[in-house]
Amino acid sequence: MPAVHNATFDVFEGEILTVMGLSGSGKSTLIRCLARLVEPTYGRVMFEGIDLLQAGKQELIEIRRHKIGMVFQHFALLPHRTVLQNIVFPLEVQGIDRGAREKRGREIIQIVGLEGRGDYYLRELSGGQQQRVGIGRSLAVEPDLWFLDEPFSALDPLIRNEMQDEFIRFWIRQSFLSRMILMKP
Ligand SMILES: Nc1ncnc2c1ncn2[C@@H]1O[C@H](COP(=O)(O)OP(=O)(O)OP(=O)(O)O)[C@@H](O)[C@H]1O
Ligand SMILES: [Mg+2]
Repeated sequence: MPAVHNATFDVFEGEILTVMGLSGSGKSTLIRCLARLVEPTYGRVMFEGIDLLQAGKQELIEIRRHKIGMVFQHFALLPHRTVLQNIVFPLEVQGIDRGAREKRGREIIQIVGLEGRGDYYLRELSGGQQQRVGIGRSLAVEPDLWFLDEPFSALDPLIRNEMQDEFIRFWIRQSFLSRMILMKP
């Protein structure tokens, strides 16, 4: 039985597409297919004129590295790195120098409300705080395309509203021409 069947949609510049569905309905599978973390059996994922499903390994790495931001339902953070090191990891991979990336990292730490915790390891954080590290990491790149899988689910309702507002503000300010695909329970 397929987890996702016959899903067709467009997302234009400056749009947020929200996909809502019950637990087990295939949201994570769909977003993982778009990012090719799961290889779809069939179909096309067109982004800036390229079919991501046909992209070569290196091309895909470059697109992910420079253009795509992802926040996963289960965080997918690096446990042996600190909060700051996790947030700036995408910039490190891009080869941005340490001074510049740490400056940016500290701005983001403010945005996601983790001031004073930059040097903490992930095990020293609550689930909601870890999720905010994941959100921060996705903000670091200023991506053109966002894949967000229940990015606010581990947050308590008060912080969730705050983070959602902050995220949208950030989006409007820095990358409002980007496209966002958001999975919500
Ligand atoms: N690796 C896997 N192997 C086999 N089946 C899987 C796998 N991952 C997910 N599934 C199945 O695919 C279906 C969709 O799962 P998926 O994780 O995409 O749902 P979801 O909408 O994200 O759910 P939730 O809201 O709980 O996160 C489920 O029935 C699940 O059991
Ligand atoms: Mg899911």
